[in-house]
Amino acid sequence: MPHKMGDRSYRHDVYYQNAKKNNFASRAVYKLDEIDKRFHLIHKGDHVLDLGAAPGSWMQYSLSAVGPAGRVVGIDLLPLKIQLPGYGAFIQGDIRETPVEQFLGPEGRLFDVVVSDMAPNTIGVKFTDATRSAALVLFALEMTDRVLRPGGSFVAKIFQGVDFDEALRALKSRFVRFKVVKPESSRVASKEMYLVAWERRQEPLP
Ligand SMILES: C[S@@+](CC[C@H](N)C(=O)[O-])C[C@H]1O[C@@H](n2cnc3c(N)ncnc32)[C@H](O)[C@@H]1O
Repeated sequence: MPHKMGDRSYRHDVYYQNAKKNNFASRAVYKLDEIDKRFHLIHKGDHVLDLGAAPGSWMQYSLSAVGPAGRVVGIDLLPLKIQLPGYGAFIQGDIRETPVEQFLGPEGRLFDVVVSDMAPNTIGVKFTDATRSAALVLFALEMTDRVLRPGGSFVAKIFQGVDFDEALRALKSRFVRFKVVKPESSRVASKEMYLVAWERRQEPLP
């Protein structure tokens, strides 16, 4: 079977190899690891919501960071490829069709951190891919109004392109502090960036 271009470098990529060696479900774990080491967002005992969680490496990272006193809830269209401990939960479904009560659980405790590594099904058309990516970020941001505690933190992948500025405005209205970062482990050729924000305001600014 012919290999896709870049396949070889992908498989020999140090992050890919490390993820395999350390039993992480995906090399994506190193992006969250880098972001969290730099911004100190996830703490022991925290409740974390992971949007676009499959195959599960960000959940593995968060579960280890919050420990058994915390809770990590993930959602994805696809199934996870990891086993969850008792303080982890997973919903298979579309975030746009899942009532937020399902994430919050019976006690309704708000999350301390919401992370989103969601990516649309890319079709290779930059304009469409970027529009869909920004739409997912905007949806995730609107969700934070109902599921993230004031003072809480947010991380989301976004493809650079159209609607990036609109997503940034929506981010700024909700968080006191934010940065746009490109982790070392993110492929140079990829258009992805990560919005990192903390200190959620009580109410979004108009
Ligand atoms: C890059 S992967 C996430 C990798 C994950 N962070 C990890 O570390 O294993 C992006 C995921 O976003 C999910 N996704 C995209 N749109 C979604 C939606 N509307 N609802 C739920 N999940 C979605 C995809 O199914 C895909 O599994």
